[in-house]
Amino acid sequence: MIRVSLPRIGTADAWRKAARGFLATGTPPQEISWGDTSVQAGLFDISADTPQHTLVTVPRSFLSMANSVVWHSDPSRFARLYAFLWRLRDAPHLMTDRGDADLAALRRMEKNVHRCQHKMKAFVRFRETGAPDADRRSFAAWFEPTHHTTEPTAQFFVRRFADMDWQIITPDVSVFFENGRLRFEVDVPQPDLPDDASEALWVTYFRNIFNPARLKVQAMQSEMPKKYWKNMPEAAAIPELIARAPDRAREMALAAPTLPPARLAAVQAQQATNVSAWDGTRDELVSAISTCTRCALHRTATQAVPGEGPADASLMIVGEQPGDEEDLTGRPFVGPAGRLFDQIAQQAGLDRKQVFVTNAVKHFKFRPDGKRRLHERPDAGETEHCRWWLMAEIAQIRPQLILALGATAARSLTGNGADLLARRGKVERGPDETPVLITVHPSWLLRLRDAGRRREASLLFCQDLELAVKLSQSQATLRNRQA
Ligand code: URA
Repeated sequence: MIRVSLPRIGTADAWRKAARGFLATGTPPQEISWGDTSVQAGLFDISADTPQHTLVTVPRSFLSMANSVVWHSDPSRFARLYAFLWRLRDAPHLMTDRGDADLAALRRMEKNVHRCQHKMKAFVRFRETGAPDADRRSFAAWFEPTHHTTEPTAQFFVRRFADMDWQIITPDVSVFFENGRLRFEVDVPQPDLPDDASEALWVTYFRNIFNPARLKVQAMQSEMPKKYWKNMPEAAAIPELIARAPDRAREMALAAPTLPPARLAAVQAQQATNVSAWDGTRDELVSAISTCTRCALHRTATQAVPGEGPADASLMIVGEQPGDEEDLTGRPFVGPAGRLFDQIAQQAGLDRKQVFVTNAVKHFKFRPDGKRRLHERPDAGETEHCRWWLMAEIAQIRPQLILALGATAARSLTGNGADLLARRGKVERGPDETPVLITVHPSWLLRLRDAGRRREASLLFCQDLELAVKLSQSQATLRNRQA
């Protein structure tokens, strides 16, 4: 058994050197006992330099991982790294094998070290130890990292505080930066550091960035673990800030908003439109729909297309949204789908002049394709915004029956998004319990390639229109009798 001693300073280099040597001499992991750095040097058979330094190719990703893992506090880290490196010789793909348990354990250690480095960068608090007006000011900090992260994190502090002298003393390895030179020492006793004038500043800063309305104690303690609190001046304020958080959040909610005037006006205008139902006249409704900006579709469409038909229509027909021709003319169902609808409606004895025809969404949604504008189905949000107008039209016309053409209309009217073909020809309940007869959209018929299927589907569609005429008439007769 070869026993290896690694130094507490320069551990990463020493481990790399030793591991390369062992790999080059074909020494298997079970023949090496990697001592932890905390054990005194000299107890082992050989030092890290002993094996001959020979060139061995190791994946770069392994080196990067090893460079972090060596700083972990787990004494088994060196052995784990070498055992994995040994396997890696014949299977370089192991570095990307997510199912490999050894790799997973090393990755977890790597993550812990990174997290510890992050905490060190964030939570070291320096106190001034020299004269504030000295050419080079001097600072010192006491810090207790979970892993051996002083050495790999030192360069961060060098970059940050290059023009000062400073030292970070830890129970393990301490770092000193004096006159631009970096050095490390082990087992430096904890210094008695002076109070610092900037402590009050830290507390004030922390009080100011603390948002009581966003307080999540668990998340905060995971980000700033309690073990670091004792060396952080601002942490003294935490218990009180947590205790007062609910009251302060309530006070903030009660305080008047301080939105800039333009934004405030927009918010107030928006709130003013948030009435529960449209109650204007028919003409006002048409012009309100024409100026609608409730969703983004108005930006690209030519114009909104309101419903049209007699104000006392007993049947209302609801499609999906205007198409290309409807968008240009401002009238519903005048394009290819509308022409097919008219043709089948005639066969079904449905007089289009007698019905109110409209859409679930009032603006054309499309995708440009060269000069063409290709239909795009409105999404749930757009349909929901436009439902406001559809409900207003229904409230004005008060139809006896609504015929829903296609899934968008059916969902908007009934709230039910289930498979349309299973529901076609059936009556469901819509707003104010108005009966809604479900059928397919004529553009679906246009898209059917197979002539036989198309004939069959058109026949069913015709039957649905006949049913709609019959139901709306019988309901209207009933209403007249009751009136
Ligand atoms: N498709 C619809 O759903 N509505 C129209 O107005 C035109 C085509």
